Amino acid sequence: MRKAFYAALSLSLPNKVSPISKLTAFRRALADWYADAQRALPWRMHPSLYRTVVSEFMLQQTQVKTMLPYYHRWLERFPDFETLARARAEDVLKNWEGLGYYSRARNFHKLAQAYVQLTEKPQTAAAWRELPGIGPYTSAAISSIAQGHPAAVVDGNVVRILARLTQDERTFKNNGEAVKAFTESAQTLLAPKNPGDHNQAMMELGATVCLKRKPLCTICPVVKFCGAAAHGEPEALPNIQRKATEKVSVDRLWIEQAGKLLLHQIPDDAPQLAGQYELPRADSLAIQTKALTPLATRTRSITHRRITERIYKLSAPAAAPEDCAEKNLHWIPFNKLAKITLSGPHRRWINELLDAP
Ligand code: ADE
Repeated sequence: MRKAFYAALSLSLPNKVSPISKLTAFRRALADWYADAQRALPWRMHPSLYRTVVSEFMLQQTQVKTMLPYYHRWLERFPDFETLARARAEDVLKNWEGLGYYSRARNFHKLAQAYVQLTEKPQTAAAWRELPGIGPYTSAAISSIAQGHPAAVVDGNVVRILARLTQDERTFKNNGEAVKAFTESAQTLLAPKNPGDHNQAMMELGATVCLKRKPLCTICPVVKFCGAAAHGEPEALPNIQRKATEKVSVDRLWIEQAGKLLLHQIPDDAPQLAGQYELPRADSLAIQTKALTPLATRTRSITHRRITERIYKLSAPAAAPEDCAEKNLHWIPFNKLAKITLSGPHRRWINELLDAP
């Protein structure tokens, strides 16, 4: 039975005969489990197209528990496409502050502006992909969940499940290559009558049962279909090469004067974090830090980079440059810090340093 099921999923096999009954049995087992075990997430309890789009933009690169408070605040501030389309860019960014990957917020803003102008609204995955910030994943998620369009979602969760189900031990160079390799199988497996629930069920299974390091096979609703659970090591799949960790170090400055802190605003045309404020970098002010002791040292990881940031306190008249405006440096009063958009870690560090005894 298993062989035929895999054959349906491995579309590279010649002359495959689709064992429809096994596909149907898989879909039904998954759907029954999802009906019972799904988390009561707000965009599922009170569905709408706009809520689906908000949730899918926020869930790219971010886990449900992290994004939930943002989701609620966002809907209060921007309840529909029209309100979002009219909002100022700074306002949109401010409401995304702390979620990271800020191009998502800028793209979502552009998407709302484009969407409200359209006389013919998108109804298919292909039509959604014409809009800003929408790739294969988001277009499939939105069109299937909110519009019942039969497009399979292939995210990290789905790749993990399919690699384990079919016990696919190939090595993939990166996530993109793995997503491509499983796109056809995901589409074959998609429940044609209920694609939105099927897609959400796959993602839910990946997020709550078919876990990366410790898959919970004993409670898995589709374990009897799973090649890796029967014969292999599910936790070892998928086999995706990781980039080596790169160590980076950045020196930053804390320069305050008369109740104000000197901050650098990232230029609008920068590829990342445009418009946000941060503690200025020592190298951009041509300041040598070798002989100094840092006020604080913080480490963080972004994808494969391990970044160590040292923050040095300097006295204002000596350290602050004359041409602040040209260098995008601004004196921000401490009591105005809440109003500006700081990138997530910078807000945290500044609060910690202000709270320190
Ligand atoms: N990840 C991204 N979108 C999701 C959804 N709709 N349900 C569960 N996990 C998700």
